[in-house]
Amino acid sequence: MKLLSKPSWQLPESAVTEEQVFVSRRALVKGLGLALAWPGLSPMQAWAAKFGSELTPSKEELVTSYNNFYEFSTDKGEVRPLAQGVQLGPWELEIGGLVEKPLRLDTQKLAQLFGEEERIYRFRCVEAWAAVVPWRGVGLKKLVEMARPLSGAKYVRFVAHMDPKVMPGLASGHFPWPYSEGLRIDEATHELAFLATGIYGKPLPTQNGAPVRLVVPWKYGFKSIKSIRSIEFTATQPRTLWNDVGPAEYGFYANVNPEVDHPRWSQATEKLLGSWVQRQPTRLFNGYGEQVASLYQGLDLKRNY
Ligand code: MTE
Repeated sequence: MKLLSKPSWQLPESAVTEEQVFVSRRALVKGLGLALAWPGLSPMQAWAAKFGSELTPSKEELVTSYNNFYEFSTDKGEVRPLAQGVQLGPWELEIGGLVEKPLRLDTQKLAQLFGEEERIYRFRCVEAWAAVVPWRGVGLKKLVEMARPLSGAKYVRFVAHMDPKVMPGLASGHFPWPYSEGLRIDEATHELAFLATGIYGKPLPTQNGAPVRLVVPWKYGFKSIKSIRSIEFTATQPRTLWNDVGPAEYGFYANVNPEVDHPRWSQATEKLLGSWVQRQPTRLFNGYGEQVASLYQGLDLKRNY
């Protein structure tokens, strides 16, 4: 008999932040079975009838409408309307720098090449709001391995798409575009680092970073760069848009840490999207310490934040 063990970071589906019920493939199959037993109910209604008490009201609407995507706007409420009807991607991801063989990869082929997975992760923005999001995509490690970085490659730099024709925020002179981010190579090859192409069982909407974005659940959300155009392996720590804009704020690591406040607010607590009144304690590494703390052994996290 094959025993399936759940990875330690896996969250139950009932923890998913959504307005509508998140129907995972498994749930849908269950629902289909129940719908047969209760003709007249849709699979989702049948599933809700059976498992309703476990379900948190869906916040899919919130996660896909309350967005930070500065290339469109710095106003969260404006991003989705501006992105409506704009199709970013598919495109070829450029992978280069210190690799054996630079390559270009069609974003539509990622799932086929590396195998698609669904991951339910906590997400924590530096602004002290949080969510739980079901992503679909591929492990970043697989792509890094395929690129075969040279021994001198110590960091990975990600650069986002820029198209002033459809992204009015790029006209703002406040930011040194393009949006760029970086990870140390051992962070990029950690099991939890993920490239998302979908959300809530659907393709990623433009406002959430289509066609492909990074998801690094133990770091503040700004590290999770959207609409990635290129990935470059480097010997030295790359500069990032936020390190350039706010050098007095968080550094390169930006690991979620309740003890390191933002210069203008505390990070001790957070608000979960959809429950604006109550705050909950922020967890070190956003609750993924068991998996990632070893990456930072010997590093003073209060100084190297
Ligand atoms: N990626 C790009 N290209 N541009 C951005 O402005 N904002 C970041 C990150 N990735 C951003 C980006 C920030 S600050 C956050 S909190 C998350 O995206 C928000 O992701 P979400 O809108 O899907 O919740």
